[in-house]
Amino acid sequence: MTIEQVMVIGAGQMGAGIAQVCAVAGYSVFLHDTNQESLDRGYQRIEGNLKKQVDKGRLTLEQMEGALNKLIPTCRLDVAGEVDLVIEAIIENMVVKKELFKELERVVKPSTILASNTSSLPITEIAAVTDNPERVIGMHFMNPVPVMKLVEIIRGLATSDEVFSQVEEVTKRLGKVAVEVNDFPGFVSNRILMPMINEAIFTVYEGVATPRAVDEVMMLGMNHPMGPLTLADFIGLDTCLSIMETLHDGFGDDKYRPCPLLRKYVSAGWLGKKSGRGFYQYD
Ligand code: NAI
Repeated sequence: MTIEQVMVIGAGQMGAGIAQVCAVAGYSVFLHDTNQESLDRGYQRIEGNLKKQVDKGRLTLEQMEGALNKLIPTCRLDVAGEVDLVIEAIIENMVVKKELFKELERVVKPSTILASNTSSLPITEIAAVTDNPERVIGMHFMNPVPVMKLVEIIRGLATSDEVFSQVEEVTKRLGKVAVEVNDFPGFVSNRILMPMINEAIFTVYEGVATPRAVDEVMMLGMNHPMGPLTLADFIGLDTCLSIMETLHDGFGDDKYRPCPLLRKYVSAGWLGKKSGRGFYQYD
């Protein structure tokens, strides 16, 4: 099977980025969200990003128009019946993701691949709610999707070799590098990154230093391009908390316990850049 028609579910920061790179690579793309406002915002973000690329001379006007013509925003889920590959990028919540995968199986073709962009949830568990777990796989893009080269490809216990190699092929066509990892909480990227971010939050919580000081230490002292708290705001503090909870539940070790300050910010609605406030304030 050749993959030509893709559907991206969830038009938030990740979904919009994934839809953008798929359309630029020449795939026909449905971008779906249950929330019309999020869908409109996602589409506008893609348009804005592509215009910037044209201004910088990285894309021609024709390429931008070509990509936008390939992209159809929709609130309908049943269009999944027309696609070869679904990439799910909705909120990081196992219950909601399982519901969606169950629903998807009722509409998609037998050959359709179901990929999840989850940053930490077990692919095997998501796949287990479907009748065909061999077609379920993790395709973990990095943020911001148009810029970052890596896609972690996660095999569930039942993922077939054919599905794996097709997803590897798509990743190459997107101009990205696929790295295969096994299905364990947080995979590789967030198992290593997120405890560092959580520790940075503990450092602020315990009054050791201000957020700015923590970020400066890590940037100037460790050569990180961005401090861990700026990065946490950028990822979304709700997503950071979900990932820490997945690591804590999955490994049971206290070193993965989410910092109470992270919980407090999330319950206050301080979700980072996307909500205008996190460790820093945004316009
Ligand atoms: P976001 O909060 O920006 O976007 C989520 C979108 O999903 C929203 O537009 C929401 O309306 C929509 N949505 C929620 N439930 C839905 C449903 N049942 N059907 C259709 N749409 C639905 O979240 P973000 O940051 O884009 O994250 C999405 C996924 O990507 C999560 O699984 C997250 O863990 C993962 N991820 C996030 C990264 C990050 O840096 N934020 C990096 C890599 C992966």
